[in-house]
Amino acid sequence: IRTTVGIVGGGPAGLMLSHLLARDGVDSVVLDNRTHDTIATTHRAGILEAGSVRLLTQTGAISRIPTEGYEHAGIYLRFNGENHHIDFKELVGQTVWLYPQNDAFIDLAATRARDGGDVRFGVRDVTVEGIETERPMIDFTDADGTAKRIECEMVVGADGSRSKCRDLVPGRVKHTMTYPFAWFGILAKTPFQADELIYCHGESGFALISQRTPEIQRMYFQCDPSTTADDWTDEQIWDRFDEILAGPDGFRLQRGEIIEKTVLQFRSFVQEPMQHGNLFLAGDAAHTVPPTGAKGLNLAFADVALLAPALVRWARLGDRSELDTYGERAAKRIWKAQNFSYWMTQMLHTHTDANSFTTKRQLGELESVTSSKDSMKYLAECYTGWPYDLFT
Ligand code: DHB
Repeated sequence: IRTTVGIVGGGPAGLMLSHLLARDGVDSVVLDNRTHDTIATTHRAGILEAGSVRLLTQTGAISRIPTEGYEHAGIYLRFNGENHHIDFKELVGQTVWLYPQNDAFIDLAATRARDGGDVRFGVRDVTVEGIETERPMIDFTDADGTAKRIECEMVVGADGSRSKCRDLVPGRVKHTMTYPFAWFGILAKTPFQADELIYCHGESGFALISQRTPEIQRMYFQCDPSTTADDWTDEQIWDRFDEILAGPDGFRLQRGEIIEKTVLQFRSFVQEPMQHGNLFLAGDAAHTVPPTGAKGLNLAFADVALLAPALVRWARLGDRSELDTYGERAAKRIWKAQNFSYWMTQMLHTHTDANSFTTKRQLGELESVTSSKDSMKYLAECYTGWPYDLFT
């Protein structure tokens, strides 16, 4: 198989890149060792920054967001049992959209299929060679069991948080931060619990009340990383939410059937450099964030929004200059998002080794943020996302 860009990874980053390249006449082949159904049913975050929405809709990648997504003009920070509204629209004139990542994936895969893109799910044994040469090769076993080879000119590693491609970068440095907690996530058959998302710092832990549809909601509570989904019965789960959310306003979740339970492990991670020779990393392959603040998918889209025009410029004019600075330019946004995700995580979770000072200081921080318009503006700016044109 001959193509210009071989893309390893058919999640949102790989598919979006392939879509953007195709719009500018650059051909690509996308490979993923997971099946379409596996990716489509893997629940991830649900918030798209305004810039991600513009990228997806203006390039014809996904059209359903305005009709099937929900626009949110803010969030609630809840602590001491009281909600504090952060009004993004008023503070920074921006909003975000609730649109689940697995729907974004389904739409992007459908768009590539509609446009005749070569996207292969369920492949095996992907190996990349020759990234320092003009003819890199990707060997793999196709879903039907036949051995195949892609001869390409550029390789993009968009192969997620367990990336193999990133191992090919010599002299790489891995910047890592681990956290002593995880998230217990559920999908439940219950109505919307609030008009916007609630990020709650409770005395004994964190909870996030998110949404999906009028009938199904997504919620998480902080748990120990050693927890498994079966450790908690439905009743224990609802009781735990009640305990974390309890407050003088009497707010309580409306219970319903729990249709999915998962434990999410997380960490902060950045690999530098993000490129070597004719290999470029994008999305989780190069960086992962803890889920608090929902930056993961948005960062992946921001990467490919830089990488696609750089690849197009090289393909059309033979000019590599934009490609050569891709990683450096992407890193600016990545570290801002790392900082924001880390900050939100630290500010809202309960540390198991917390003493009374740590706990009181944390409440002091939450008070400061929610009582200062400038602080709230900073949070709003980070949450809704930095403008794309600052990074091109
Ligand atoms: C969701 C997940 C997040 O991590 C977040 O910050 C917001 C929303 C979600 O799954 O809906």
